[in-house]
Amino acid sequence: MRVIEHDHVKDDHIKDDYAVAVPFYDLWHEDGHVPLVRELLPPLLKGVERSVIEIGAGTGLITRVIAQETPARIYAVEPSLGMRSVLVNRLAEDPRLLGRVTVLPCGALDVEVDEPVEAIVMISVLQSFPAEQRAELWRVLARQLQPGGRLVFNWRERALPVPGDLEVMGSYAVGRHAYEVAGQVLEAAGESVTSRFVYRIRQRGVAISEDEVVVTNHWPAGERLAAELRAAGFDRDAAPEGMEMWRLP
Ligand SMILES: C[S@@+](CC[C@H](N)C(=O)[O-])C[C@H]1O[C@@H](n2cnc3c(N)ncnc32)[C@H](O)[C@@H]1O
Repeated sequence: MRVIEHDHVKDDHIKDDYAVAVPFYDLWHEDGHVPLVRELLPPLLKGVERSVIEIGAGTGLITRVIAQETPARIYAVEPSLGMRSVLVNRLAEDPRLLGRVTVLPCGALDVEVDEPVEAIVMISVLQSFPAEQRAELWRVLARQLQPGGRLVFNWRERALPVPGDLEVMGSYAVGRHAYEVAGQVLEAAGESVTSRFVYRIRQRGVAISEDEVVVTNHWPAGERLAAELRAAGFDRDAAPEGMEMWRLP
């Protein structure tokens, strides 16, 4: 029997929206945000040498970029068991990574490392935090950063989407099967968007496996985000379109 003590954990409500997406994740996101982040993140990590926290490391696609671009120790925070399993297996295939990356099986609000880090990287995770949790997120992250430390994340201004029909967003050959991701917006209000994603495996066109998840994401407007970060003590630093870099004074 496995007993988990949750008394000290703030993020114990996190539900694993990624469980059914895991087999599809790397296939789909190589077509999504990952190539651009591979291009834009490295210059923002210049000079980082000692330690980095990565929030929501997922399957480790960005962890690998951080490890290539810096000699730093990495604390990879990832609450989803499925995503974390791929991450650890990825590390296991590279002894140099295995020695440098510590995987923290918790959510961002529970992150606590031994000493303040030079940088925190958070790629495509911000949307998981509803507005009422973000003040706490910025407070927790500021506490983990050394003075002058940088917080780097991807963000862009988005128009509120319109609810619509289910559409195939990507299909990838895996041997003789096709791994298909379909999505639809169900509801959009304020900064919150509720979407349905369907993950299918097809064999000669026929679905042999199908899972779906309904998830609500939060996309804060630029002005609001800037106000929150300033209130938490961060100052904006230069970053290319699509990325944000904020520093503690
Ligand atoms: C879209 S994926 C991004 C993964 C990776 N950063 C990448 O770009 O490939 C979002 C990740 O954030 C994680 N996540 C969700 N809620 C979180 C939380 N409260 N704290 C930390 N990570 C969280 C999810 O489990 C998932 O792995």
